[in-house]
Amino acid sequence: MAIQAPAARPANPRFSSGPCTKIPGFSLDMLADAPLGRSHRAAVGKAKLKEAIETTREILGVPADYRIGIVPASDTGAVEMALWSLLGARKVTMCAWESFGAGWVTDVVKQLKLDADVKKAEYGDIVDFATVDFNTDVVFTWNGTTSGVRLPNGDAIPADREGLTICDATSAAFAMDLPWDKLDVTTFSWQKVLGGEGGHGVIVLSPRAVERLESYTPAWPLPKIFRMTKGGKLIEGIFVGETINTPSMLCVEDYLVALDWAKSVGGLKGLVGRAAANAQAIWDFCAAKPWIANLANDAATASTTSVCLKFTDARIKDGAAFAKAVAKRLEKEGVALDVGAYRDAPAGLRIWAGSTVETADVEALLPWLEYAFEAEIAAQA
Ligand SMILES: Cc1ncc(COP(=O)(O)O)c(C=O)c1O
Repeated sequence: MAIQAPAARPANPRFSSGPCTKIPGFSLDMLADAPLGRSHRAAVGKAKLKEAIETTREILGVPADYRIGIVPASDTGAVEMALWSLLGARKVTMCAWESFGAGWVTDVVKQLKLDADVKKAEYGDIVDFATVDFNTDVVFTWNGTTSGVRLPNGDAIPADREGLTICDATSAAFAMDLPWDKLDVTTFSWQKVLGGEGGHGVIVLSPRAVERLESYTPAWPLPKIFRMTKGGKLIEGIFVGETINTPSMLCVEDYLVALDWAKSVGGLKGLVGRAAANAQAIWDFCAAKPWIANLANDAATASTTSVCLKFTDARIKDGAAFAKAVAKRLEKEGVALDVGAYRDAPAGLRIWAGSTVETADVEALLPWLEYAFEAEIAAQA
């Protein structure tokens, strides 16, 4: 029997996990107010950067005594400037449950050569935070973008910890509630939940993180783009928009436009709700189909942004080739772009469900998943 293609297609087939789809209705004209060709240190440039910082604070509910800085090299730059600047003062615990967390383990163990306590969970699971000693510095990724597994909350992190918590929140910030009192360093980039551009990172520092920066000097050299202190004092300018080096004012404008949109959908609550509704639509679909399942083993840890799925049908002969063929078919049909699982992750699909995605598009995509699945099962035979 010929497999019938669904009648409707998503209006927007962009389900990439980064850069993620831009805000609904985006057009380049929206960036017309960017101060192009002007110095980022001129009043107009500084004002834009300051506005980006303060609007970030407002939407994310970052406490007034936390510093927010815009830094080079996207989320990776923000994480690495934290690792290189802060670690080494006390014992370190590295927690990883997918590729990016594993990358930070490599940084700390192989590059910084620290004798870290490394806790790893397989794809689909999460490190049990009850086993972590928070009197050590603890590094973790809030939402594992490549496994679709996230921390459900920060309850296991003690308020009276002696160590610092360093959290890569790049695919969580703006779509998930982050408990600022439990996070000493939080990083993210613009290219994820708000559909911004790559290249710029954000670092959020608690007062305890600042205290560490001002009281501890690492044994290793720090390149200029990692340096947050001068003469033992925090460079406060970084946290009011005097960036370490030149940012793209076009990307800053784009971020400001996205922040405005974020406010228009109800701020953080609206953003969290949009991602949750998108993920729920996918979860409901999977619950009703015997051939597909969430990669996250525990529903409490299932990501609401990077939803990772695995095929579970016994008829599938080569899991990796099958998943690739499904993703290719979806792309060819123009119904889902960039939804293959991450290169290091188990075979399957990864559908970005973050806040800029419209639920109607997710709903329109789901019948196509079934169509592509059935077509590939038939193609195997
Ligand atoms: C969890 C996580 N950390 C870090 C990164 C790297 O981000 P960037 O490319 O913005 O540096 C990504 C990108 O997908 C990510 O998902």
